[in-house]
Amino acid sequence: RDPFIVLGVESSCDDTAAAIVRSDGAVLGESRVSQDALTEAWGGVVPHVARDAHAAVIERVIHQALHEAQLHERDVDAVAATMGPGLEICLRVGYRAARQIATTYEKDFVGVNHLEAHVLVARLDSQVSFPFLTLLVSGGHCQLLLVRGVAQYEVLGGTLDDALGEAFDKTARLLGLEVGAGGGPALEQLALKGDAHAIPFPVPMAKRPDCNFSFAGLKTSVRVAIDKLGGDEVVRGDERLMADVAASFQETCVRHLEHRVRRALKLCAKHNLSANTLVVSGGVAANMVVRTRLQKLCERAQWKCVFPKVRLCTDNGVMVAWTGIERLRMGIADDTKNLDVRARWP
Ligand code: KG4
Ligand code: ZN
Repeated sequence: RDPFIVLGVESSCDDTAAAIVRSDGAVLGESRVSQDALTEAWGGVVPHVARDAHAAVIERVIHQALHEAQLHERDVDAVAATMGPGLEICLRVGYRAARQIATTYEKDFVGVNHLEAHVLVARLDSQVSFPFLTLLVSGGHCQLLLVRGVAQYEVLGGTLDDALGEAFDKTARLLGLEVGAGGGPALEQLALKGDAHAIPFPVPMAKRPDCNFSFAGLKTSVRVAIDKLGGDEVVRGDERLMADVAASFQETCVRHLEHRVRRALKLCAKHNLSANTLVVSGGVAANMVVRTRLQKLCERAQWKCVFPKVRLCTDNGVMVAWTGIERLRMGIADDTKNLDVRARWP
């Protein structure tokens, strides 16, 4: 029946999230608890610590979303949960809670791929039709995908080492920044005060004409530059130097993205694909320099550039519920009897 209502549950990394979304795109209820403080205290996501934190709040997060929607568990038409990729023991917390509701009330269940959710959420709040191109840049992933339809993806390129968000986080740590809410936002703020051309870091893989990414070499270049400037103590004691390193790093990342996106647009033209929209999603899509530069690039190429709302770019329950809706519309549901979470799920 249409419209129908789906509960989405997300627990693949360090956010416990749930949302109630209606098939016409209305978000009826939303709840999220992040483990930023824990992640900061442990210097990263520690699987069993994260699992315990998910387990401690999962019921409350789901009920808060239902409460906001003024609904009871039995009122939703289907349940969706992230099944991977991610930390298995964390994924299982969300999956079990979601499955419990689906089996108790005999609702359809949809197992959701986290990356697909990051991609498809763009269709919830804007008119994006298939096929389209996606640049997915988060803490765990960095990919260029051609999206032909629901469940029809072609990987044009991925990262050979670190993800972009991970590179921001590691560089923020190298600079000794507070990385509570992710190193990216802190580094972006610092870069505002710096000269993006102060340090000419080489753009990764500039001579390799494909759609793959690499950020490990850039991280090493930052390390070397800090040492040349006098070492950690000198750089961290000089706000100007700090800002210059941050701005130059960010500039190099953006130029790397520009190279890859330009290449992907060319590929689409070469293969006569009717795609003319680029969706940029994942946590790093919150970065204003990334946004404005890719927007400009697309304008020049006469492509549309779409960024989901910032709160839908970082991990959330809405994207999981929405993916459930998209899959159910295609007639795709899953049997929980033969289902388990998947740490890796390309
Ligand atoms: O999508 P997300 O919430 O989680 C994953 O699925 O990984 O992405 C989090 C990542 C972190 O690495 C964070 O540093 C980065 O996104 N990030 C940013 C910004 N906001 C978040 N990176 C650069 N600039 C930002 N403004
Ligand atoms: Zn994510």
